[in-house]
Amino acid sequence: MSDSTYEKMNIQWFPGHMAKARRMIEDNLKLVDAVCEIIDARIPESSRNPDIDRIAAGKPRMLVLNRSDLADPAITERWTEHYKRQGFAVIETDAKSGKGIRAFGPAVRKLLEEKIREFDAKGQSGRTLRVMVLGIPNVGKSTFINKVAGRKAAIAGDKPGVTRGRQWISIGGGLELLDTPGILWPKFDRPEVGELLAITNAIKSDIIDRETLAANFMLRLRDYYPDALKMRYKFSPAPEDSGFDMLEKAAAKRGFLISKGEYDIERMANTLLNEYHEGKLGRLTLEVPDD
Ligand code: G4P
Repeated sequence: MSDSTYEKMNIQWFPGHMAKARRMIEDNLKLVDAVCEIIDARIPESSRNPDIDRIAAGKPRMLVLNRSDLADPAITERWTEHYKRQGFAVIETDAKSGKGIRAFGPAVRKLLEEKIREFDAKGQSGRTLRVMVLGIPNVGKSTFINKVAGRKAAIAGDKPGVTRGRQWISIGGGLELLDTPGILWPKFDRPEVGELLAITNAIKSDIIDRETLAANFMLRLRDYYPDALKMRYKFSPAPEDSGFDMLEKAAAKRGFLISKGEYDIERMANTLLNEYHEGKLGRLTLEVPDD
């Protein structure tokens, strides 16, 4: 979902600790049987770390479409099929409420069926299965891990070779998780990725022009979810409206005035982004699979 008429936004993100996080992942990969990446169901591709395909090549992989409570259910289903066709195990979750979480254990065991058979054949039935959990910041990784672990959560203690400070979390049923620091990759390969990450709050917005971000978001809403604008902000977008025009229309309906005839666009921009974050615009997905 991209459109060349959108305002150009230059969002780049180079936090220094990311290289360290990547090294930690590379160093510990040999200790796990599978890699599970938590992604945001509203922007599945943009919230995946493209490096992981290279770093984790050869490992059985799982994708968790989290925040599915905020995403368009029909499109989430399409993403699930899309990734399953690519060989990933896929589950859909709302880690906040716990919905979908129970599918995790069975999905890991199915993904590692062959490995389990090998263990059985070697007389190592019941051997612990270890899964590395990855995800961009704020995607819900901690919430997910806590829910999956439930009351069974226990720090399984240091293992030789594991980078200090990392923890194995025993979640029962012969499974252990290795938590990793949330990472964003240093370069976005498509210009819209940074913008989608900012709209969904993965990139904290103090480095971003919130008004331009919200104006571009308005254009996306007009193109893909015009009914959400009608329902929530009580105006029908016109084809010739710019994103800023729509922010102004919404501000007018809300009564966000700076002075007579001048609307508070900044306040409306923040309101729009916050209300999307809170799910008040409905379940809106901002990226669809191309197949
Ligand atoms: P992280 O470890 O990946 O950084 O994320 P964390 O679990 O801390 O979750 C970030 C926020 O997202 C938390 O809200 C959490 O409750 C929420 N969250 C996690 N999973 C889901 C989900 O599936 N659906 C919804 N709707 N929310 C989810 P918070 O601390 O209140 O922060 P925020 O909501 O203001 O970002």
